[in-house]
Amino acid sequence: MEIENKKMKLKNLRDFPDWSGKKVFVRVDFNVPVKEGVVQDDKRMAHALPTLCYLLEQGVSQIILGTHFGRPKDHESHLKTDILADGLTKLIGQPVKKIDDWGEKGLPTDRLVLLENLRFHLGEKSKDESQRDAFGRQLADLVDVYVNEAFSNSHRSHASMTSIPKFVPGFAGLGVEKEVEAISKAIQNPKRPLVAVIGGLKADKLTAIHHLLPIADHILVAGALACNLLKAKGYEIGDSKSDDEGMEERLSLVAAINESDKVHLPTDFVVADAFSESAQIKQVSAEAIESGWMALDIGPQSVDQFKQYIESAQTVLWFGPIGVFELTPFSEGTRILGQSIADSQGVTIIGGGDSANAVKQLDLADQMTLVSTGGGASLKMIEGEALPALDLLRADAA
Ligand code: 3PG
Repeated sequence: MEIENKKMKLKNLRDFPDWSGKKVFVRVDFNVPVKEGVVQDDKRMAHALPTLCYLLEQGVSQIILGTHFGRPKDHESHLKTDILADGLTKLIGQPVKKIDDWGEKGLPTDRLVLLENLRFHLGEKSKDESQRDAFGRQLADLVDVYVNEAFSNSHRSHASMTSIPKFVPGFAGLGVEKEVEAISKAIQNPKRPLVAVIGGLKADKLTAIHHLLPIADHILVAGALACNLLKAKGYEIGDSKSDDEGMEERLSLVAAINESDKVHLPTDFVVADAFSESAQIKQVSAEAIESGWMALDIGPQSVDQFKQYIESAQTVLWFGPIGVFELTPFSEGTRILGQSIADSQGVTIIGGGDSANAVKQLDLADQMTLVSTGGGASLKMIEGEALPALDLLRADAA
């Protein structure tokens, strides 16, 4: 699929003529981390507040909120949404009524209602579109209008994402609108130079790198992904991780990437003899990774080179950590380049769950133009893939 979403203009909340008295289904992504019954990070919930407040101010009669929560196999009690209703109640300063079902009893009249985990219903993720549509229809029958405020789940063709707006008018929430506009602009009409920093472990980012070849001015590759590319060039990578799954099908992508003079690979690494903070560590050039040693961060020379490209950029896209950020001896690349991106006066977009977490841990989130709420969804956008849930909300959709 070609760069479809680059031109994406979504129907937004201001496009609906009169919200007064309407019942609205707002699909949120409250899939937040929870430990021992306590929400660890409520940013995804806070992210929905502007849309919810806007709708309340516009006089809607009721907001029915729906979310997934984890990946339930059955109706696991720790994946019930009660804790999320309590969290939202505190954040929004108004009661949020949690309901288990809306069957025979129908819906309560409370202005803010949160449904039970949508993934408790088989129809939500069914592979059969007619089953998803049947569940989507049930949800659509509860309301007059649908709002997607779940960018991070918009790459999923689930009933609450792609079926409900087949039956009632659908709009993008304020957060979705902002996120899609920022990412679209960065890849469609960027301030140049556009520098993409792509790290992490997964070889599926090769698709994103390939897609960025004609778009970006420089692509800096780090993480295990860099080892994939060096290995394909014939370098010895010792015991370094490289994600070899599906590499056979990606040979042509890898060849095009390795041929491009826009792509910059690390020239040195921090290597260790074990995946551990207490391992023996040394710095070596990219040609000198020996058996028994694994690259866990880029080296100081590469950090300096990459930093120079970042400092010259007017737009930076950062997807995936530079090294094994969670282990202190291998966190320097992520820390120094993260700071350099934060210091940039240009547009800075952080996508992918792990780099977004790194930015949060480094306390740099407020200095970035956008820290995407959606790892998978934002990556799909820079891969040039359409996001099915957003396609339905396009202003030019039939
Ligand atoms: C996420 O956390 O990335 C979204 O909530 C999607 O969740 P999923 O990967 O379980 O579909």
